[in-house]
Order: sequence, then C-alpha cells, then structure tokens
Amino acid sequence: MTDDLPPAGAVPPLPKPDPERVRELLLDWCGADPEDALAAAEAVSGLDGELLALAGRMHHSIAEDMGGRLWRRWPKPSPDSPDPERLLGLYPLLAAVPLMLDFHRGIGVDEDGSRLVLQDIGEKLRLNRELYGRPGLDVAFWFTAHVRGTIYQLGRLQFCMEGTTAKPRIGLHIRGEGGPLTPEAVRSSVEQALEFFPAKFPDLFPSGRSMSFMCSSWLLDPQLRDWLPERSNILKFGALFDLVGPATYANANRRDDIWRFVFARTPDTPLEELPMEHTLQRSVLAGIKAGVDFQTRLGDLKRERLGL
Ligand SMILES: CC(C)(COP(=O)(O)OP(=O)(O)OC[C@H]1O[C@@H](n2cnc3c(N)ncnc32)[C@H](O)[C@@H]1OP(=O)(O)O)[C@@H](O)C(=O)NCCC(=O)NCCS
Repeated sequence: MTDDLPPAGAVPPLPKPDPERVRELLLDWCGADPEDALAAAEAVSGLDGELLALAGRMHHSIAEDMGGRLWRRWPKPSPDSPDPERLLGLYPLLAAVPLMLDFHRGIGVDEDGSRLVLQDIGEKLRLNRELYGRPGLDVAFWFTAHVRGTIYQLGRLQFCMEGTTAKPRIGLHIRGEGGPLTPEAVRSSVEQALEFFPAKFPDLFPSGRSMSFMCSSWLLDPQLRDWLPERSNILKFGALFDLVGPATYANANRRDDIWRFVFARTPDTPLEELPMEHTLQRSVLAGIKAGVDFQTRLGDLKRERLGL
C-alpha cells in the first residue's frame, strides 16, 4: 500500500518515549483506561531501532502537515503482531500532542477542547481490547486528523475539515461513546459547528457562505429502516440526509464496519458468535440472517431538517 511517510532513513527516528509520560498522557488527556495506559507504557521497552525509525517517519508525516486536511496514510499493523507493533502508531501521535496543543492555542481552542478531541484515543484503545482481546490501536492513522488540528469534538459529534481548499466541506463523524444520538444532540452539535468553523478557520469557511456537512457511514443505510424500531435515533439521524452516490463498502472486507461498530467483533466472527445484547445488535443480526447486505452510504446533511 502507498503511504504518506518520508523514505526510510530520510528523517530521524522517534526518540524512545518516556514510559511514565506515555502513561500520563493517556490517562490525563486521552481518557484511556488504566489497563491500556499501563500496557502502552510497558510496550515502550520493546521499541527497537527499526520500530523507532518507522515511528519517526510517522511523526514527520504529522509534524510537517499541521492543519492539513485528509488523513495521513500509515501502514496498518496486523492484529496478530506483537505488542509494540500493534501500538506503534500511538507513540508518534502522543509525541505530536504538544504540536496539537500549540495549534489549538493559536486558534483559541482551550485545553478542555483539546482533551475532548483526544478522548477518542482512549475510546479506540478500549474498542481494540474488546475486538482483539489485547491492547492495540488498529486505526492509528485516524488520529492523524486529530493531532493535526483537523478534527474537533463539538457536543455529541466530531467534525472534520475535509474536501479541497477550493471546495472545503465538513465531514461528520460519530463516536461510539458519548450517549444516544438524539436529534437534540445532533442539532446542538451542528449549531456549534456553524459558529466554530467560520470563527476559527475564516479563510476556509467565510461567514455568510453556506457550509456543506457530509457523512459517510453505515448509519445512513436506508435498509436499516426495515429492521430498527421506529423510535430509533439512528433512523432519525439518517432522515436528516439526502443520499449521494451509490452504496459502497468502507473497507475491502465488506463486513468490517457493521462487525466493528455494531458488534465490536472482527469480521471473521461467525454469525452464531455475534453478541445479541441490545436492540441494535438483535435488529441488525435479524437483517443479516434474512440476507440483507448492509452498506456504507454518503449523505448530504439538510440543515433545514434540524431547523438550522
Ligand atoms: C450511533 C449510536 C450512538 C446510536 O445509538 P442510539 O442513539 O442508542 O441509536 P438508536 O436509538 O437507533 O438505537 C436503537 C436501539 O439500539 C440500542 N443501542 C444502539 N447502540 C447501542 C450500543 N452501542 N449499546 C447498547 N445499546 C445500543 C438503543 O438503546 C436502542 O434500543 P432501545 O430502543 O431498546 O432503547 C450507537 O449505535 C453507537 O455507539 N455506534 C457506534 C459508533 C458508530 O457506529 N459510529 C459511526 C461510524 S461510521
């Protein structure tokens, strides 16, 4: 896979992180569980010259592109690789936290705002432990947007600056933690975003110019209407968007998103082993068993449906 890293040997390796600093950053800023913070601190001892060289290239790809849009493409660790490799992306991300804080300070985002952005790391470490039964950060590249000052948590939703400079748009993302996706929570978040981006990034989002909000997610699949109860927040969320383009799969493995976000299981988990603990899991599994192939849809938010 092509990646956005500088060639091997072109930049210095990442200095070996201080395990205590790793633990502190994860606990104090990223909302990580003590178990994950400890595992990440302990794994530092396994970072050899080769891994630190790779981590240095990852760090460079962030540091030389602060404020840049889109995610940096990083090599993805195999879930079967040993500890430091499964967590490798975490260390350049943590080393970039001071850069992120400087960037945030520069645009008037306070430490509480920065902490909210980083809490997603703690969540994904928890999700990794649930998925694989071991510590890891399988989508470390996702956080290259967070630490480069591209993504912000405003209320329930995350908003990421996407698109091109000529045609910027806001990508809307939904964390698993943070409570139900009620229409009120969605409205409040979008309202905050409408103020935030023109105030902080006036060149990209001049006030007075209409802002486009897009969302690409399994949550927007209209097939869910056949399976979820009418009261479902997911259905109410989907109804806020006009769908754009054909149905797709977010990953090469078509099962990835549903297995990950609904069941917190890896895509090789057989149907009979999927958990059926709550309404969402039971409803989606009923659909899958009936032959429904849930997919990712891209939607264009119609703000007037939120009264905004
Ligand atoms: C998106 C999300 C917050 C929506 O949750 P919600 O607001 O409860 O959604 P709904 O009202 O449609 O849920 C339908 C039912 O499933 C339950 N449910 C949904 N997600 C649940 C979860 N993660 N854990 C437990 N129950 C859940 C709801 O409680 C509800 O049950 P009920 O009607 O018996 O009370 C939740 O599904 C989630 O955390 N998803 C993971 C993150 C994700 O998918 N992000 C998008 C990535 S592209």
